[in-house]
Amino acid sequence: MKKFLTLLFTIAVAALATYIYISVLKDDKAFDNSLVVKTENNTTEQGGQKAEQAAQNEGQVSQTGFAVASDPNARPENITEATIINGIMLANKKYPVPATFAPGEDPTALAAVNQLITDAQAQALDISSNLSAFRSYEDQETLYNNYVAQFGQEQADTFAARPGYSEHQLGLAFDLLDNAGVLLGSEGSSETNQQAAKWLEENAHKYGFIVRYKAGFEEKTGYQAEAWHIRYVGPEVASEIYSKNITLEEYLNVEGGTYNN
Ligand code: DAL
Ligand code: ZN
Repeated sequence: MKKFLTLLFTIAVAALATYIYISVLKDDKAFDNSLVVKTENNTTEQGGQKAEQAAQNEGQVSQTGFAVASDPNARPENITEATIINGIMLANKKYPVPATFAPGEDPTALAAVNQLITDAQAQALDISSNLSAFRSYEDQETLYNNYVAQFGQEQADTFAARPGYSEHQLGLAFDLLDNAGVLLGSEGSSETNQQAAKWLEENAHKYGFIVRYKAGFEEKTGYQAEAWHIRYVGPEVASEIYSKNITLEEYLNVEGGTYNN
């Protein structure tokens, strides 16, 4: 009887040990899986953190850098964070940036646009080295108010951003000009200007830029077409947006066509 009880006890211990071993293995697997997911998340986050870090160097953007919700009450004067989604900083009619945000030109974007211009000029395209780049909140305010005085607010809103809503304030957007100082692809511009604008449309993505306001997408972007306004997003994203022929709003799955207030 004692022998039998000892055997029973041994079997019970062995069964318990097996059960515990299997459970731990299962947990390990679950743990591994969660690590994989975490790694993916981290990869995504790192992009954001990079952009955030760059912006933080200017001391203007939040700790998280991920203000993904469009707050209907957000105004440039009372927000402290720019919105960054998947590492892309956003400025449109739904997503303002803080009035105090003044990073100047982003060095990577500036180097890229300089390369683009050098390459275009090497092909004898009519593109000037002069360009319109970073604009502070105050610069944009002056510009916008002048347009409102000239054309009225409704009209001005179709082609000029209100202060705090312009991509030029991000330091990531550039307006390109021909050698006569005329915006590329603008109405009534010369043949050589139009050729340069066409080249820009077809090649900007190779340098990390998108032509931000395209004809036919006015309701998505909130602006009339601007063949001259390019926005830096990096070559990978720019190529995807170019090949899919979509807007930045569609790429990021955000709204942008109209102001909230
Ligand atoms: N012209 C563009 C929309 C701007 O003012 O930023
Ligand atoms: Zn512009």
